[in-house]
Amino acid sequence: MKQDRKQIALVTGASSGMGRCFVRKIAENYPFLHEIWVIARREEALDALQKELPETELKILVCDLSDRQSFQALGELLKQESPRIRLLVNGAGLGHNGPVERQTPDGICSTVDVNCRALMVVTRICLPYLGRGSRVIQMASGSAFLPQPGFAVYAASKACVLSFSRALREELRHKKISVTAVCPGPVRTDFFRAGAISISPVKKMFLAEPEKVVERALEDAARGKAVSVYGISMKLVRLAAAVLPEGLLIWLSGKLFRNV
Ligand SMILES: NC(=O)c1ccc[n+]([C@@H]2O[C@H](COP(=O)([O-])OP(=O)(O)OC[C@H]3O[C@@H](n4cnc5c(N)ncnc54)[C@H](OP(=O)(O)O)[C@@H]3O)[C@@H](O)[C@H]2O)c1
Repeated sequence: MKQDRKQIALVTGASSGMGRCFVRKIAENYPFLHEIWVIARREEALDALQKELPETELKILVCDLSDRQSFQALGELLKQESPRIRLLVNGAGLGHNGPVERQTPDGICSTVDVNCRALMVVTRICLPYLGRGSRVIQMASGSAFLPQPGFAVYAASKACVLSFSRALREELRHKKISVTAVCPGPVRTDFFRAGAISISPVKKMFLAEPEKVVERALEDAARGKAVSVYGISMKLVRLAAAVLPEGLLIWLSGKLFRNV
């Protein structure tokens, strides 16, 4: 790729929580970037982020990622500007808790549309603009490691993200593009408010701070790690998911992590 291209980072879900933290950390740690493209639905929150970071050029793209037309708009903009994407962070995501029989069809669709379809399509659209040394960071979740009764749709959507990201990493290895799936446990963000999710007492005990999760994710991506797991408790969950019999694991998951 030509070096005179604009060097950018692109962050979805930049209006709050970990996506917003990614933008702050990228602005701080990658001053050579010409722009950070930030995507979310809430324009005022993205404008506020620009005010907070006056030295950093943000390109604000107000998009609903559950709407397929957003992909076309993003694709056209990338074609026009032909930037080099040094960092792609797919941070947008949501979840609704409660048993499947209490989920609405619309709620299931929006979870799968944003968490899975948008993440895969945005990644695909960005691929031609990634090059040697570019990094892709995909927000999965610790719930990707194990089915979660009471949070089944969300956990399944994140298992999809983890599977997709691991396979893509292999596909892009020869191009020296790294792909890192970030798998945190519960993190103190608007996530629980947005999905009206009541958090279980066990999860509450292990709430991580978004800055820590994001710092670790950027470090792990720089090291080319496939999976980024912040904190000892989530490392133990990952280990348990690998060694415990599946039936026992799912039973325990339902008992310990149920949000309601
Ligand atoms: N918090 C946790 O405990 C936790 C744990 C593990 C993984 N995660 C994952 O981490 C990622 C970030 O979550 P967070 O905790 O930072 O939550 P958050 O504060 O609620 O942020 C979610 C972001 O996604 C964006 N988003 C949601 N629906 C969208 C849509 N239809 N179109 C465009 N953007 C959309 C939101 O922006 P707008 O509302 O402005 O559109 C917001 O910027 C998510 O993928 C989440 O699943 C969270």
